[in-house]
Amino acid sequence: MGFEVQYRTHTCGELNTSNVDQVVKLAGWVNRRRDHGGLIFLDIRDRYGMTQVICDPEKSAEAHKVASELRSEYVVQVTGRVVRRLAGTENPALGTGEIEIVAEQIQILNPSRTTPFPINDATQVDESLRLKYRYLDLRRPKMRENVILRHRVVKAMRDYLDERGFVEVETPILMKSTPEGARDYLVPSRLYAGEFYALPQSPQQLKQLLMVAGLDRYFQIARCFRDEDQRADRQPEFTQLDLEMSFVSEEDVMGLIEDLLMRLIEATTDKRIKQRPFPRLSFKHAMDRYGSDHPDLRFELPLVEISDLASAGTFGVFRSALAANGIVKGIRVPGAGGYSRKEVDELTEFARTLGAKGLVSLAINASGEIKSPLTKFMSAEEVQAIIDRLEGHPGDLLLFVADSAKVSNDVLFRLRNKLAERLQLIDPDEMALCWVVDFPLFHYDDELKRYDAEHNPFSGMDEEHISRLDSDPLNIRAKQYDIICNGFEIGGGSVRINVAELQQKVFSLMNMNEEQIKEQFGHMLEAFEYGAPPHGGIALGIDRLIMLLADADSIREVIAFPKTQSAVDLLMGAPAPVEEKQLQELHLNVRPEEKR
Ligand code: AMO
Ligand code: AMP
Repeated sequence: MGFEVQYRTHTCGELNTSNVDQVVKLAGWVNRRRDHGGLIFLDIRDRYGMTQVICDPEKSAEAHKVASELRSEYVVQVTGRVVRRLAGTENPALGTGEIEIVAEQIQILNPSRTTPFPINDATQVDESLRLKYRYLDLRRPKMRENVILRHRVVKAMRDYLDERGFVEVETPILMKSTPEGARDYLVPSRLYAGEFYALPQSPQQLKQLLMVAGLDRYFQIARCFRDEDQRADRQPEFTQLDLEMSFVSEEDVMGLIEDLLMRLIEATTDKRIKQRPFPRLSFKHAMDRYGSDHPDLRFELPLVEISDLASAGTFGVFRSALAANGIVKGIRVPGAGGYSRKEVDELTEFARTLGAKGLVSLAINASGEIKSPLTKFMSAEEVQAIIDRLEGHPGDLLLFVADSAKVSNDVLFRLRNKLAERLQLIDPDEMALCWVVDFPLFHYDDELKRYDAEHNPFSGMDEEHISRLDSDPLNIRAKQYDIICNGFEIGGGSVRINVAELQQKVFSLMNMNEEQIKEQFGHMLEAFEYGAPPHGGIALGIDRLIMLLADADSIREVIAFPKTQSAVDLLMGAPAPVEEKQLQELHLNVRPEEKR
């Protein structure tokens, strides 16, 4: 038998006055070294906290000598006696702030080069540098907290579902394409030339097949892969809490998720849930009032349509938008009637970057005087009707966008979020959750010239609407529900189709011919013919949820090793070219002119 090295008796976060006089061993990283003439102070850090070590040449010349050689981020082992800090030198910000260690022996376990950025939360560091040296970035307290929070959230999810009889099942990563509306990541097959696996966009089909298998309640912490345009709240690979249940209605799934989220938020943060039960908004109401199906309900600031009033008068901006089948919609910015020209121009510029042609403003000053381009083109009564519709008061600023419904809604939705920040209407400790329901089953995809599923093609529909499949597909209501938190879609799901004929019909409305349906989804249709129970489910975006719980600005802050906004892994250097031999084995040729 070899001998055992005992690296430490305690962690750097656990010593307190009850340990005074004990001789202890700590191991960790040098957070900081301060030379005070004769004395050297060290802060030794590990995952659990920080402990101050004092090196006095009179107590141990040896330890003092080693300490004088130490640099930040050296890995050291310190042996010494715990003493109470002198009165007045305690550090209440530190869990171990009432004690310090008088060093008797210090050993360098491994030195460190000077790190490319200091290891603390205060220093602003360029994100690409942080991602290249993610292992150093993760030493920073905030990042460490995020990683641990994520662990706690996922564990709480597992425990909660386990208690309710859910079974965790792993589904494959090498799969066949699942239609969730994004591009697939493909993996070429070596054994079958010219054929490909697809990485799952979600485990959707397999979880439904598990219901056919009779598993009744399934969940998985599932990695999903989607090759789509990146945004701050999207990653090419991300994680879902994916679940599916048999013999349930929408209410059952929504009730479970509401209870789960409430407990999760209570167990892992100090945040308050704004309203329970979570309010439910119809898709139409959300679009009308907030311009989006994922509104931030921490504040009100409703959007108001004025298309009917805007056709009065001779204002070209309004009239031409309406003539092109567009709409005119506005927002009241309370107390902003005194914004300077420059401030209004900034908002206009912001709207332009989002795709608007401009912003029409109407300022009402404190004495009720109106300043707006509208007054040149409309009568006082016509202008007043618009003000009344928006409930404008002296001191308010009204802003309008005239464009297609899509652009008007999109721009005003984002403007609304920006204004709420600017007006400080957001309580950072609040979680405003809501359900969005009553989605249309289909929307019409202008580019592809076909109907496309609003959620995915497996969503069920209101029984009484089935007869509209041929005559009026855009007016079918789906049994779909999205869950929104603080303006982010954190989950979505539906009660599914479990009848082959109906499923086939939906595919054919999406312009798939018999052969394509059979080739891509034959296994689903077949499974539905062997006693598929009624079933439904949902998937929560774990990264987005944790981003909100952690008050982070992007989901990259809560993923240990994320990719950049442009889908690059800066730490490992992926994607990267591969050896010619590998390409040959996979029967692939790369077009040389298309290489990066
Ligand atoms: P959906 O496509 O709505 O549903 O995905 C569910 C949730 O996953 C999160 N999400 C993402 N998070 C980070 N990066 C991305 N690229 C990304 N894409 C989605 C969102 C979203 O609400 N199979 C269905 C679920 C079901 O019907 O049961 C599905 O995947 O928070
Ligand atoms: P213009 O006619 O482009 O000089 O614009 C006159 C004013 O109307 C400017 O304040 C623009 O910002 C604004 N504007 C122009 N087009 C639109 C539009 N489609 N919606 C809202 N405001 C607009």
